[in-house]
Amino acid sequence: MQAADKLRDTKIPLNNGSGAIPALGFGTLIPDPVATKIATKAALEVGFRLLDTAERYRTEKEVGEAIQEVFKEAKVRREDVFIVTKLWNTNHRPERVKPAFEASLKKLQLEFVDLYLIHTPFAFQPGDEQDPRDVNGAVIYDKEVTLLDTWRALENLVDEGKCKAIGLSDVNLEQVKEIFDAARIKPAVVHVESHPHLPEWDLLNYCKKNGIVLQAFAALGHSMEPRLLEDPVITAIARRVDKTPAQVLLAWGIQRGTALLTTSKTPSRIKENFDVSAIPDDAVREITEGIKMRVRLNSVVETGVPGFIPKDK
Ligand SMILES: NC(=O)c1ccc[n+]([C@@H]2O[C@H](COP(=O)([O-])OP(=O)(O)OC[C@H]3O[C@@H](n4cnc5c(N)ncnc54)[C@H](OP(=O)(O)O)[C@@H]3O)[C@@H](O)[C@H]2O)c1
Repeated sequence: MQAADKLRDTKIPLNNGSGAIPALGFGTLIPDPVATKIATKAALEVGFRLLDTAERYRTEKEVGEAIQEVFKEAKVRREDVFIVTKLWNTNHRPERVKPAFEASLKKLQLEFVDLYLIHTPFAFQPGDEQDPRDVNGAVIYDKEVTLLDTWRALENLVDEGKCKAIGLSDVNLEQVKEIFDAARIKPAVVHVESHPHLPEWDLLNYCKKNGIVLQAFAALGHSMEPRLLEDPVITAIARRVDKTPAQVLLAWGIQRGTALLTTSKTPSRIKENFDVSAIPDDAVREITEGIKMRVRLNSVVETGVPGFIPKDK
């Protein structure tokens, strides 16, 4: 970890010699494509150096356009930005992995990504329909492929050099252990919902012990109830340390040793969310020990169906 006043520039080393991941990242799960592109450019311009997208978000094209424009303006270089995308549930069969990955690269206009994640551990019926349902509206799963089969196909992508690191998303501790124990190339990152209402300490401790980075999404509570940004512990600390509630939450996440993601389509908030510096250790402790409420906002871990995908996606 770097010095406290450089908290926002923290980078966490990844396993397998695959570099280091910026702790503070910008997510691109934004419903409107125009807003996605504007927000992505704004995020790079204020200083974010990690962008998170996914086949499922349908934002790869806009993220690709935004980064290419910023690169052309010579404001940022490719090697300075850590780019993450994800394999969707309908592409878990090993023979579908490379085509899906290459389609993502093409949309992103990139030669390689820094991190490729399996978006969820649930395999859906293979095909172009991202959310396959039967006549009763139930998800159609694919029982012919295991998570380990898909992982092996991701390992091959690393061997080919088009993807520097691989990881898992929306998994529980048992699933991480299963893949970690069997993997030839270990997961570098585990990407899950996490914030003071869902701290995931057991998972974080396992990850730290095994050299895996836990990357938290919904770090600000995804603007959902109960509003984390209005939690009295957070707002009191924010007043005391003269920061905004969002800045307090982001500092807590980095200071407890996770990477994290935040998203905003609002320019002032994008700037605010990058303007993060350390909070005192007693404030970190107060959040950890003082917030007792436990809430999972995104039920994706139960079915593979993302709770956060806006209806028009
Ligand atoms: N793997 C998965 O299943 C999964 C699921 C969900 C998300 N993710 C990833 O994680 C990223 C982050 O997740 P998230 O969208 O839940 O993040 P979040 O930062 O917790 O929530 C974003 C929401 O908070 C608002 N917000 C942002 N900054 C704020 C601030 N300073 N003050 C007040 N409100 C603020 C935004 O509003 P405005 O936009 O209106 O400003 C937006 O409604 C996503 O973009 C995506 O890349 C992954």
